[in-house]
Amino acid sequence: MTQPTDQDLLARADAIASRAYAPYSRYAVGCAALTRDGRVIEGVNVENASYPLGVCAERATLSRAVCEGYGPGDFVVLAVTAPPCGGCRQWFHEMAVERVIFRHDGHEMTMTSGELLPQSFTLNR
Ligand code: THU
Repeated sequence: MTQPTDQDLLARADAIASRAYAPYSRYAVGCAALTRDGRVIEGVNVENASYPLGVCAERATLSRAVCEGYGPGDFVVLAVTAPPCGGCRQWFHEMAVERVIFRHDGHEMTMTSGELLPQSFTLNR
């Protein structure tokens, strides 16, 4: 089977966004991550009446992937329908996501985790 292109992944993110649970913001976000072994894992934002407890589509996706056995270094591309928030950028750093595709002001952007979060925090104990 051929690998999905970046455009395919963004299309998957667009499609899955319809499953977002976003009754408070009414801002649906979809995400699709391609793993190194060729799987596509999707996710959406899931909100809560206690607003800060909501989870972004990117974190829902990466959490789902971790539940399925994936971890740092296993993600080649992650496509998301919105510009990723600061917290999600720290998650990309944690999971060493190679590159992230998103739309910003109508433009499609591709950036590495390092470009999205320079001088990022790593816990060195
Ligand atoms: N949201 C995401 O899912 N990903 C982001 O990177 C930006 C924000 C969600 C969180 C909330 O459910 C809604 O968009 C509005 O902020």
